[in-house]
Amino acid sequence: MRIVLIAAAFFVAGCAEKSEPMPPFVAVGDMVHTMNNVIEPAADKIWDSSGYVLTAEGEVNLAPTTDEGWMEVKHGASVIADSGNLLMMPAHAQGREEWIAISRGLVEVGRQAMAAADARDDEALFETGAALYGVCLSCHQVYWEDGGRFTAFVEEKEPSASQ
Ligand code: HEC
Repeated sequence: MRIVLIAAAFFVAGCAEKSEPMPPFVAVGDMVHTMNNVIEPAADKIWDSSGYVLTAEGEVNLAPTTDEGWMEVKHGASVIADSGNLLMMPAHAQGREEWIAISRGLVEVGRQAMAAADARDDEALFETGAALYGVCLSCHQVYWEDGGRFTAFVEEKEPSASQ
């Protein structure tokens, strides 16, 4: 058994040596650009469509009521999932293990939101939205020096959901 494992290790090492050169990634913008133009608008599609708001008429479920609405959520969720891959690009990740782990979390939560949109499951979407917020926060707490601003950003966002 041990011999098999060692042989497998050599095989993997051999494959790594022959690996393709890095694809020619092009930096479209800096991290602020990616956050403001890719990730945040996508997350908003999930957050603006999950949970309840209290109005004069009572509790209103923010979940989409049309196929188009659910497609928008699915789009946001898909962008979030692939944003995790985007953030794992070497220029962004810079070999930082925790950054990569959190980015993988973004892929997973995005995929869960995609599944919730496919199932038209508003409860699952709400839970996924909360988990998504946790992923954003866990990266910001470690890597965004002025991360306190993110809390303010979320507080600003919440009232707009009732508009
Ligand atoms: C893997 C790390 C990582 C994840 C995950 C992440 N962010 Fe960020 N985010 C950053 C970093 C780093 C900055 C600070 C960029 C700077 O100022 O150079 C930032 C900044 C921001 C900003 C402020 C941009 C500005 O104008 O200064 C917003 C908004 C933002 N993130 C939204 C989000 C949202 C929403 C999520 C989750 C859906 C998220 N981020 C997930 C790393 C991350």
